[in-house]
Amino acid sequence: MSNYVRIFDTTLRDGEQTPGVTLTPEQKLEIAVQLDRLGVDVIEAGFPAASMGEMEAVKRVSEAGLRAEICALARAVKEDIDAAMKCDPGSIHVFFSTSDVHLRSVLKISYEEALRRIEEAIDYTKAHGFICEFSPMDATRTNLDFLKRVCVLAEETGADRINIPDTVGIMTPRSMHELISEIRGVVNVPISVHCHNDFGLAVANTLSGIEAGAVQAHVTMNGIGERAGNAALEEVVLALHLLFGKKTKIDASKIYATSQIVRRLTGVPIQPHKPIVGDNAFAHESGIHVRGVVMDPASFEPFKPELVGRVRKIVAGKHAGRHGIKTILEESGLTPTEQQLEKIVERVKELGDKGKAVTDTDVVAIARSIMETPPSEKKILDLKELAVMTGTGVIPTSSVRLSVRGKDYVASETGVGPVDASLKAIQRIIQNLARVNLKEFRIEAVTGGSDAVAEVIVKVEDEGGRMVSARGAREDIVMASVEAMINALNKLLSERAT
Ligand code: KIV
Ligand code: ZN
Repeated sequence: MSNYVRIFDTTLRDGEQTPGVTLTPEQKLEIAVQLDRLGVDVIEAGFPAASMGEMEAVKRVSEAGLRAEICALARAVKEDIDAAMKCDPGSIHVFFSTSDVHLRSVLKISYEEALRRIEEAIDYTKAHGFICEFSPMDATRTNLDFLKRVCVLAEETGADRINIPDTVGIMTPRSMHELISEIRGVVNVPISVHCHNDFGLAVANTLSGIEAGAVQAHVTMNGIGERAGNAALEEVVLALHLLFGKKTKIDASKIYATSQIVRRLTGVPIQPHKPIVGDNAFAHESGIHVRGVVMDPASFEPFKPELVGRVRKIVAGKHAGRHGIKTILEESGLTPTEQQLEKIVERVKELGDKGKAVTDTDVVAIARSIMETPPSEKKILDLKELAVMTGTGVIPTSSVRLSVRGKDYVASETGVGPVDASLKAIQRIIQNLARVNLKEFRIEAVTGGSDAVAEVIVKVEDEGGRMVSARGAREDIVMASVEAMINALNKLLSERAT
């Protein structure tokens, strides 16, 4: 198929070369099984000559009966190729450095010696009946005439595919297009591209190589890999499907699950704004965007999140408008009145302006407390002022000014802490209306961090045994407690009035 692109996944090999990442054979197998479900054509399972564990891992992946071709990496030396062959893979990926900097400074050999070793290694691999993919390492910094000689020799010796690695990620989409066109001009075997992300161009360069005629892309899940990583599978595949009109065997709906497995087993976190698999890739916060996606998701989404196994997220925050907050609340089964919604939005924006990252859970807590607060015209009690003093060497004291049926009263009390003192001051002010006992007091930090919204739940009982509970939610614990107490008293007094 002329528009079919093969996906060669190297998460288990180049991806494992991410600094700090090591995978056990069991973990490699778990990832390989998921990559196979995802539909990759080739799984590069590892570098068997590197260690016994690596050899065991490649062997286990090879024996797992997966649909994908299982590939083992080998330097162009007999020992590495022998180690690879012992794993019984479907193919062997043989590589040899070809750039001047590698040949002169690292290997200290001539072009002729390099050609001899490449020929010997491919010949050896093919003589043992394996599919051989050959990579001239650091191809993109290799003298072009020499690179062409290498590729022609590799094809003549029997290499089944030639992969062009941009080992240090120095290509641009234009130079990659030119290079692949040049190589296509001298060989007939399928050409592959392998791009690193040192300048953030790995995906663009991969796509450009494919536009120039490469038919296979080396990629890793979540773009993990050496240094700045490799071209990300999810980005390359989605761009191929949706922007370039190409086909792959990838079942895009399994992309997110695969990404999460790789994140969990490698321990490499995914940046929130990472395309396709990042937390924010389908999250909308700004009021304009939220209103748009609620009316028609296509207004601010290039494709539906379900396509890659995800769901749209409406996020709270100071940019969120009424629509966003209403949607979040409806999802939690809360339907505030217009007046209440206005207050909730106001409180969310206030928090955002103070630099707090407001979460959905915060919004729900704020909404529950506001929905329990009676409208101003029905309020019997209303907090006008609160001042607390606390610390070492002072007795915690609270002064409260409360309006009771429109008339202001002030009281000060001490307590074991500022919350205790404030609740006592409120009880003092209302003692002529009701004598209440605090039967229960519960405080929960809704989200993590010292700036978390605290939700306080109180249960109070009056002298007649009537019991009510109410809640308050503020980023200030004292304010949350006072709000909960006043909400409870308003409930109690208005019930008694009826
Ligand atoms: O980046 C690279 O050059 C490689 C080779 C082993 C192909 O990963
Ligand atoms: Zn690489």
